[in-house]
Amino acid sequence: MADAKLSATMAHPITSGVSFQQCINPLCGYTLDVGQVKTACDRCGDLLDVGYDWSRIKVPKRLSDFEHMWTQRHNPLRFSGVWRFHELIQFVPADKVVTVGEGQTLLQQANKVGQYVGMNPGQLYLQYEGMNPSGSFKDNGMCAAFTHARLTGAKRAACASTGNTSASLAMYCSVTSLMKAVIFIGSGKISFGKLSQALEYGALTVQIAGDFDDAMLRVKEVSKDLGIYLVNSINPFRLEGQKSVMYRVLEALRWESPDWIVVPGGNLGNSSAFGKAFIELHQLGLIDRIPRLAVINAAGADTLHQLYERRGLRWNEGKSDNGITCDYYNELDARKAKADTIASAIEINRPVNLKKCLRALDFMDGVVRRVTDQEILDAKAQVGAGGIGCEPASAASVAGAKLLREEGVIAPSDRVVCILTGHQLKDSDVTVAYNSTDQEEFNEVLGSRGVSRASFANRAVAVPNELDAIIRAIQLYS
Ligand code: F0G
Repeated sequence: MADAKLSATMAHPITSGVSFQQCINPLCGYTLDVGQVKTACDRCGDLLDVGYDWSRIKVPKRLSDFEHMWTQRHNPLRFSGVWRFHELIQFVPADKVVTVGEGQTLLQQANKVGQYVGMNPGQLYLQYEGMNPSGSFKDNGMCAAFTHARLTGAKRAACASTGNTSASLAMYCSVTSLMKAVIFIGSGKISFGKLSQALEYGALTVQIAGDFDDAMLRVKEVSKDLGIYLVNSINPFRLEGQKSVMYRVLEALRWESPDWIVVPGGNLGNSSAFGKAFIELHQLGLIDRIPRLAVINAAGADTLHQLYERRGLRWNEGKSDNGITCDYYNELDARKAKADTIASAIEINRPVNLKKCLRALDFMDGVVRRVTDQEILDAKAQVGAGGIGCEPASAASVAGAKLLREEGVIAPSDRVVCILTGHQLKDSDVTVAYNSTDQEEFNEVLGSRGVSRASFANRAVAVPNELDAIIRAIQLYS
């Protein structure tokens, strides 16, 4: 932490006019002080962005100028893979940021996975965000939201979560001892790896009888009633930190844009943040080519796909969507439809950042696809076999890239970056069931989701506890 002794009364103005909050609807454009705690525009109810007066910020002339920040790694600000790009996330002075060393992640060229996807050698890259301290990309955004929470004097911070946001929030609270974490989770809806993190870090864990969408509605009500700071990605400061994933991808590619960024879509925070990152880099003249964006839904939680690809919903300069979204949600309610996928992290039917994601898709000439749980698990097995591994939701990006390759939307010679959002150990039950020899276990965990085979399973070999038998087995199988 750069400054643990920040006074709680230091509410605002935080960066005296350099940054502000602004309604994303260009027809409204209402602005607020950066020190205010809001998750929607007071005037029209739309989402909020963090905006900057770039003419008052000293932004490096070229992106490569950021490379020299590495030489300052003794400074926690520059050690962080998020705050290393502080000039592009300027809502807080340097000495007021909170960091636990997030964002030390890796872009890896993955030829084996690339072959599975159908790419030419050297063209597929995996951005491993599971390497963050709490094991998912959330830390990129949480350090920014947490920094803002502290600046506003918050004592409690809350989120609804499919598990990773809550693990990340709980971690920031426990490492810094600055706030109490209050987390809302759908009962039985999060993997044990993630739940165990929140419990051990000491978060107040509220398990509600419902799913993520229910928990999200409740946490918004409760945080408003009790004045608790909300850190879900509806919070614009969260997304400021998540922009850094794109900065690191560019950095690893020596500041050249790839052709595609492929990302799983749940609450649509990442896709929204990535779009904002490229809009700003373009506006600042720091980049001349914009990658295309592919957002991948799980088939059992495919609201964005339904709205964007089937019903033609578009950003449309932020204008009204003529009730398309509302009609779709009413249809879901009438059918009593609930999100349902093995990729529990993206088991979400009402993505809070829908509109910002539409803006990102518009700017990045995006596409949206849906992939089945079978496709997700096969892709996950391939990612694991290629090394490092990921959790189920993350593998949606690889399954989606494969689908887009098969469709010919992605060319084999394109340069593709798939974002792996969460660590392999977040959801080991799924991995063990996929590789299991026990048909009952397979059916119980996966069969109920329509997963019928484990084409890339690596099954354990059962042998009696006898030396000869063990040696025979090793000779036979290795
Ligand atoms: N991948 C993982 C591993 C996630 O945990 C999430 C979201 C997503 C993808 C979707 O990202 O919302 O930016 O589209 N998890 C949230 C949570 C909802 O509560 O941990 P998004």
